Amino acid sequence: MAKKERLMITGGHALEGEVRVSGGKNTAVAVIPATLLADEPCVIENLPDIEDIHALVDILRSLGAEVDYAPDAFMRVDPRPAHGCQVGYRDAQRLRASYYMIGALLGRQGKAEVAFPGGCKIGSRPIDQHLKGFQSLGAVVRDQGGVINAEGEMIGNDVFFDMVTVGGTINVMLAAAKARGTTIIYNAAKEPHIVDLANFLNSMGAKVKGAGTDVIRIKGQSYLHGTTYAVIPDQIETGTLMIAAAATHGDVAIRGCIPQHMEALTAKLLEMGVKVTDNDDAIRVRTTGAHRAVNLKTQVYPGFPTDLQQPMSALLTTAHGTSMVTETIFEQRFRHLDEMARMGARVRVVDRTAIIEGVPQLYGAPVTTTDLRAGAALLVAGLMANGITEIYEPEHIDRGYEHIEEKLRAMGAEIWRETIE
Ligand code: EPU
Repeated sequence: MAKKERLMITGGHALEGEVRVSGGKNTAVAVIPATLLADEPCVIENLPDIEDIHALVDILRSLGAEVDYAPDAFMRVDPRPAHGCQVGYRDAQRLRASYYMIGALLGRQGKAEVAFPGGCKIGSRPIDQHLKGFQSLGAVVRDQGGVINAEGEMIGNDVFFDMVTVGGTINVMLAAAKARGTTIIYNAAKEPHIVDLANFLNSMGAKVKGAGTDVIRIKGQSYLHGTTYAVIPDQIETGTLMIAAAATHGDVAIRGCIPQHMEALTAKLLEMGVKVTDNDDAIRVRTTGAHRAVNLKTQVYPGFPTDLQQPMSALLTTAHGTSMVTETIFEQRFRHLDEMARMGARVRVVDRTAIIEGVPQLYGAPVTTTDLRAGAALLVAGLMANGITEIYEPEHIDRGYEHIEEKLRAMGAEIWRETIE
């Protein structure tokens, strides 16, 4: 029988001290495919050492790119020998961001055959807007048995998104960077990683303006040179650590982060009675008293991020009063709540709102992760709980959090990993 692992946590220890944030997952998974657009080698720094990155290294190599990868140090990609255009089912299923290979390959050579992506099961997650964007730029797009076949010379055009989509915005940016003419994306996403991808592309000589607003203009360039670029710190890891510090009534300085990216979470934590202070690249979170219940609704940036809804709802399980958490981005992002109910959380879901009645204490229990941020929520719950929590299927967590056990242990958490049959 295959060996599996589980995470074990003895809860109830306040997190204390300092922790350094890793490079951003959702930035890295866009920047790495973007190296295919370069006409010279690129070096990327500050990449998190996580499963999604390992999967992208394999995909780039399978396309023929030369990749020199030293986890925790740098990745050098020479895209010049990459002549492939196919990403098969097994590779594409390893991560959501495999869909960025469509935009990158279309932008590079006007042809992509990429199987539908995998990633967290948090809703139906269609990619119709991505495909509509590629079609606006001149691609002929066909869905052939679960493989997206897109082909055509990229010619700049206006792209209007029906809804704000992070993935769609990034994918069209990739397809447009080397297009003939100018592309204008209307109703673009404004997340920090959109801005970081624009900065990366511009460091290669691309002409991207307006990233961070809802209109992005991309003047296609025929040649993009090599670059050395460090990705921004992970906004969601920062937020998860802030929540964990508050949840354990600890006192933690989170270093190497960008406090401005955290404003929506910071505002909610302050409303709950958590003390949050920041300076240039650090945030200190501490809690001494009880937490108050709050209501929140997930929104696109700069609203409250859906990726922090799950860990935040873990924190709210022991706040005084009743919290209402409304998820507006994904239809199935509450699967962690059933698991937390095993730990004593009092929660029910009505339509897209979780109603969380604060209880005095969570209790350790066996629980199973269903997706990455559900895993983060269970980690937070386990750190808060009285007794031992066993978290099954921790591989979801490994897809997005670098060295999470080491980081938490260094702040006083009692957390370890076991192999099970
Ligand atoms: N949508 C469509 N059609 C499309 C694209 C999106 O209907 O063509 C819908 C989605 O179903 C969803 C909403 O639009 O209801 C927003 O989806 P979006 O495209 O913004 O999300 P995504 O690209 O699938 C990325 C992140 C997610 C993060 C969301 C929202 C990556 C690889 N994934 O997903 O990250 O939750 O943006 O910020 O960057 C995670 O890190 O745990 C994670 C799930």
